[in-house]
Amino acid sequence: MGEVSDAEILAAFLAADGGYVSGSSIAEDTGVSRAAVWGRLERLRTEGFAFEAVRNRGYRLETIPGTLHPALLAAHLLRLACPANLHFLAETDSTNTQAERLLAEGEHTPFVVVAGRQTAGRGRRGREWFSQDPGNLTLSLALRPQLPPARMQTFTLWMGLSTCLAINELCGVSLKVKWPNDLHWNGKKVAGMLTEARSDSEMLRDLVFGIGLNVNGVTDEYPPEVRRVAGSLREAAGRVFDLNETAAKLICALQKACDTFLEDCYREIFREQWPLHDALTGQEVTVSLADGEVVGEYLGIDETGTLRLRLPDGQERQFAAGDVTLRKQK
Ligand code: BTN
Repeated sequence: MGEVSDAEILAAFLAADGGYVSGSSIAEDTGVSRAAVWGRLERLRTEGFAFEAVRNRGYRLETIPGTLHPALLAAHLLRLACPANLHFLAETDSTNTQAERLLAEGEHTPFVVVAGRQTAGRGRRGREWFSQDPGNLTLSLALRPQLPPARMQTFTLWMGLSTCLAINELCGVSLKVKWPNDLHWNGKKVAGMLTEARSDSEMLRDLVFGIGLNVNGVTDEYPPEVRRVAGSLREAAGRVFDLNETAAKLICALQKACDTFLEDCYREIFREQWPLHDALTGQEVTVSLADGEVVGEYLGIDETGTLRLRLPDGQERQFAAGDVTLRKQK
């Protein structure tokens, strides 16, 4: 596949970290002719890359595309030594839906579906996920875990916490987890997650974990109902991120988090780290359920991921699902 070689060529430029790379060394390392390397660079130029060519020194990568590019994303994954079965689509209805289609076709798991844009991005509880900004990431990870459904109760919470820890470290931000499936910064939603699973009698058949991460999105420009609640990494860090590098780091972190979960090695980190990154600690909250709302003081979550609330009458009530909004800052 053309992309594989393009990824290897681009990985050589990433390794040079802004320095020169000779055409002959790329040719040698990737097993293509110098003329073929030149041809590939010419094509990459039409896709948003700029290379400076200096006699006797080689080429230098000057400009990269600001949007997702499959070969550049694959090059970053190569650099991170993070193999991934990647399905890239410039546009799809929903990466979760596309992952379901691929599962139905028998695609080998784990695999990742990444889209430049979703036309029908889905959120929790039938909501829409705003997916029009090409500066953001929408992707899904598909698995066939050999586990009983009950084992997956804490899966999305763990994936959210792991993503929060990884993004904070890699991007220099301080996101928090908001039960059940959001990452927040300064009260604004920077990421949302949606896990959809199918099971056969007592075992999971397959599972799709989707995440929308607002990276370089300028949320002021979003529709009013989204603008009120959305934030982005760019707003949290005050800088623009390399979208392909961020996507590769996210994919890497998600795959690792998944392995840790499936190996059942997550519990201690989960217990220790969730309270340290919990956006709801000490807050008065409203839990919205299908049949009404309950207000109370947030007491944290238990080991199964169930939310604990102190009701105004002093009693404790627990919630396995629901939507939470803050009532007031303490
Ligand atoms: C939520 O906050 O309600 C969950 C949002 C999940 C959005 C992601 S974007 C990638 C994947 N594909 C979808 O259609 N939805 C998830």
